[in-house]
Amino acid sequence: MKFLSAFLLALAPLALALPTSVIETPVEAEEIAERACYVTCGSNCYTSAQVTAARNSGYNYVKQGGTAGGGSYPHVYNNYEGFDFLVSGTYYEFPLLPSGTYTGSSPGPDRVIFNKSGARAGEITHTGASGNAFVACSGW
Ligand SMILES: *[C@@H]1O[C@H](CO)[C@@H](O)[C@H](O)[C@H]1NC(C)=O
Repeated sequence: MKFLSAFLLALAPLALALPTSVIETPVEAEEIAERACYVTCGSNCYTSAQVTAARNSGYNYVKQGGTAGGGSYPHVYNNYEGFDFLVSGTYYEFPLLPSGTYTGSSPGPDRVIFNKSGARAGEITHTGASGNAFVACSGW
């Protein structure tokens, strides 16, 4: 009996170590979710935070008046393509960049679309569209 107790005591640290590896699994899953694309425009992968930051930045200009760098964004987007957006218009478009918030230089191909209240309408891109037209990004 003494031998058995000593044996179990020796195993105890091992048993305690096991649940730890089980606990790590949700953390790993969360890290993967953060890396996953919330929206994909052409081959550009955007997180939810990037999309939200672009929309908030664009909406701030609409609220306060003015444009990024004194340029042409944001401006009204007329939805000539007829996208079935998440909310109703009037719509505004603002550049969505992989490198950070748009400040007025080259807008790139990707856009966030939001309405006059700042509500998310969807994301669109010139990538894969003909001429100046847009196609929908995947994810909304
Ligand atoms: C923008 O969309 C939101 C959410 O659907 C809606 O409540 C709001 O009335 C819309 N704003 C305008 C100005 O259409």
